[in-house]
Amino acid sequence: MSDLSVRELCKTYGPSDQQIAVLDHLCLEMNRGQDLAVIGPSGSGKSTLLQILGVLDPPSSGLVQLEGNDPFKLDENQQAKFRNQHIGFIFQDHHLLPQWNVLENTLLPSLAFGKATPEIQKRAKELLDRVGLSHRLGHLPSQLSGGERERVAVARALLLKPTLILADEPTGNLDAQNAQKIGQLLMEIPKEHNTILIVVTHSLELARGMSTCKELRSGKLVEAL
Ligand SMILES: Nc1ncnc2c1ncn2[C@@H]1O[C@H](COP(=O)(O)OP(=O)(O)O)[C@@H](O)[C@H]1O
Ligand SMILES: [Mg+2]
Repeated sequence: MSDLSVRELCKTYGPSDQQIAVLDHLCLEMNRGQDLAVIGPSGSGKSTLLQILGVLDPPSSGLVQLEGNDPFKLDENQQAKFRNQHIGFIFQDHHLLPQWNVLENTLLPSLAFGKATPEIQKRAKELLDRVGLSHRLGHLPSQLSGGERERVAVARALLLKPTLILADEPTGNLDAQNAQKIGQLLMEIPKEHNTILIVVTHSLELARGMSTCKELRSGKLVEAL
């Protein structure tokens, strides 16, 4: 079985007599070190798919397994722990805490286990160095550019060595130059950190930079480009 296995995934919304099938028997298999860009028009279900893969919302039916574990069989507390340990999120609006500095924001995922250990702090600093922010550790998000904030989000997503990284429109709010830099950084992640990376994007440039690109169409992932 693959590290990420998605089988016959369905998600429907609405009352039973007028249900809309957003995801319709969607299948996907990926292994660590691989990346995937998901494109598709607005409303095609891209965010819905990421929400389910991120264990933020249950599927209507079908199976999701990450390294052999089905997170939807866990109770809510266990799901939160699973998310924290196995999944990294990079959102368009990056969700940084405004009153926390760059280093503190990067350490956020480790706080679920109490205080950040010296080892975790070292890793956070190494990751911030990797994304080119070692000179900004004490800055607040408001003192950073959009591209720099997005890079904090990338470092934070990598902190706990997740199996799966999910990015929803990571370059959506950036100018072309910064978008290109973030795109480059993202492309290097799966091999460098041995993770799976799934990026939802409207940017054809970013999508073409990933090794695989699929389009969400009629509730399924189909070959694109
Ligand atoms: N919580 C919800 N309740 C009802 N309908 C929803 C909900 N979330 C998303 N949808 C619908 O599902 C479809 C897919 O939405 P979404 O996954 O956000 O698409 P995308 O990210 O590709 O733009 C849209 O028609 C949207 O209106
Ligand atoms: Mg969306």
